[in-house]
Amino acid sequence: MRKGVQRLFSEVAKTYELVNHVLTFGLDMVWRRKAAREAAKAGGNLWLDVCSGTGEMALKLSRLADERVKIISVDFSDSMLTRGLKTRTIHQLSWVMADAVHLPFPDDSFDLVTISFATRNININREILMAHFKEFRRVLKPGGCFINLETSQPSVKTIKKLFHLYIKLAVKPLGYFISGSKAGYAYLSYTIPRFYSAKELASLLLESGFKKVDHHPLFLGVSAIHTARK
Ligand SMILES: C[S@@+](CC[C@H](N)C(=O)[O-])C[C@H]1O[C@@H](n2cnc3c(N)ncnc32)[C@H](O)[C@@H]1O
Repeated sequence: MRKGVQRLFSEVAKTYELVNHVLTFGLDMVWRRKAAREAAKAGGNLWLDVCSGTGEMALKLSRLADERVKIISVDFSDSMLTRGLKTRTIHQLSWVMADAVHLPFPDDSFDLVTISFATRNININREILMAHFKEFRRVLKPGGCFINLETSQPSVKTIKKLFHLYIKLAVKPLGYFISGSKAGYAYLSYTIPRFYSAKELASLLLESGFKKVDHHPLFLGVSAIHTARK
């Protein structure tokens, strides 16, 4: 599965950002900015963006961070990281190739850990997702902040149905048309309707050991920002 996900992202790396902007009508950028603003409240001087891809979230974070803050972007896809490195040279930002479930950092290292639009990818099953959450918690300093931005499930039934219909009808053909990757966008349209609701995800975070878990719906609940503390 890990290899499969890596292969998918090497197929879509070149057009990854463009497809997201088209499919969400640009809302993905607004949501990342909102999550980054929430994240930047963590303060401190060492921030980690896991499953960072091409570094869009890390870039948003760097714009809000003061000079002393170092940001590390971790991803296991060579193609996504290379794409990020090509387009983003920010002196505060370092890029590390690693698996998010075995982060190459000591316990209690970071003031902030963020993840955006990748929690579905690490949700191979419930246990594996929990193992990732525990790993993010391990590298956070006590009191450190975790921010999770991900698609979610609208609580109003009709809106949920319309959202799922949009995913079914638009994501595969549009994603394929722009990126040339059939598998990449079949995977996206499969995982979105099956992902947890915001409440369920909050329970998993609590079960993983996080405290003060909270969530905010975005655009009628099609996405959500979860905040949690170690
Ligand atoms: C949908 S992209 C999200 C990228 C970025 N965070 C954003 O907001 O656009 C998911 C990323 O997670 C990475 N990824 C998935 N599973 C991973 C894992 N176990 N360890 C490290 N990176 C992983 C993929 O390589 C891909 O770059």
